[in-house]
Amino acid sequence: MRILITGAAGFIGSHLSEYFLYETEHEVVGVDGFIREELHSIGTRNMATFLNHPRFRLIKANMLELDWAETLKGIDVVYHLGGIPGVRSSWGTSFEYYVSSNILVTQQLLEACRSASITKFIFASTSSVYGEKFGKVAEDAELKPLSPYGVTKQTGEQLCRVYRINDGVPAIVLRFFTVYGPRQRSDMAFHRFIRQLLTGETVTVYGDGTQTRDFTYIRDCIEGTAAVALQPGMIGETINIGGKERASVNDVIQTLERLTGLQAKIRYSGTTRGEPKHTWADISKARRLLGYEPAVTLEEGLSWELHDLKKLYGSSSNFGFK
Ligand SMILES: NC(=O)c1ccc[n+]([C@@H]2O[C@H](COP(=O)([O-])OP(=O)(O)OC[C@H]3O[C@@H](n4cnc5c(N)ncnc54)[C@H](O)[C@@H]3O)[C@@H](O)[C@H]2O)c1
Repeated sequence: MRILITGAAGFIGSHLSEYFLYETEHEVVGVDGFIREELHSIGTRNMATFLNHPRFRLIKANMLELDWAETLKGIDVVYHLGGIPGVRSSWGTSFEYYVSSNILVTQQLLEACRSASITKFIFASTSSVYGEKFGKVAEDAELKPLSPYGVTKQTGEQLCRVYRINDGVPAIVLRFFTVYGPRQRSDMAFHRFIRQLLTGETVTVYGDGTQTRDFTYIRDCIEGTAAVALQPGMIGETINIGGKERASVNDVIQTLERLTGLQAKIRYSGTTRGEPKHTWADISKARRLLGYEPAVTLEEGLSWELHDLKKLYGSSSNFGFK
């Protein structure tokens, strides 16, 4: 198979590319415009292990300007992960970028898929489409996003449905629940906490830290995500990809203190505007359709992210690690 992965230089896209290149025989065409500023400053760190892989080709372009008909020639499966993630920055004037990269790009790509000979179009959506829910949330729950970001992803899902029903685009939607691990984006909480802890800065927690999340380790997320292309069927399905463990933000900081032997100076500040108090994925559908079973505990996953960030921020310092 030749697999096109948009957002291949990003956190999840780089791991997915690596998976297909090193654990299967498939070819990967990566598309990325290195849109996030940090992707420029850390260069191609995310892609270092596969940029020169003989079965990998990178198309470095803003997706809004891409000739999709040409790009889709010879492609069997599309993973559409490229877009602007993050709840907090989706308010105000930056919403414009969310609209163009999450909605407009998705529509343009789906339009081109009408006349392409792909077998699957897999769209990266998010738990943010659900909004505030109590208990485990299944895929048929009513969608009530609390943030502009969630609205753009819900719209992306609806576009998938519209192009599937009208034009037969073989769309499948995956809803990721807070993914973490090596290469996690620097705006995400774990990355920020670890950096602040390692550098002796105050750890800033939005809200009171009692909010809980269903945290998904990147390796688990990738196994579930890759299985969608590797196994037959599933067209028209929407599937939650959640993690092995839920925890509160305060629990996470305590685990990090234990893992590093460092004491966090915590400042509770800011709001959790646009963020639900709790997320909790019902993954029975992923289990049934994909054989998905998240295996990595929070403590284990955090230690791998810690290991990665130590390399990123402190090759010349041991940050007081024991
Ligand atoms: N990380 C999570 O916990 C999480 C949770 C739910 C959903 N998601 C979704 O999964 C996908 C991947 O998330 P991530 O954390 O890897 O994000 P990321 O920012 O690391 O990766 C996204 C990539 O898309 C690229 N991109 C964005 N707009 C582009 C454009 N117009 N043209 C070309 N490239 C463009 C960026 O350069 C970036 O490399 C996103 O769609 C996100 O909304 C992520």
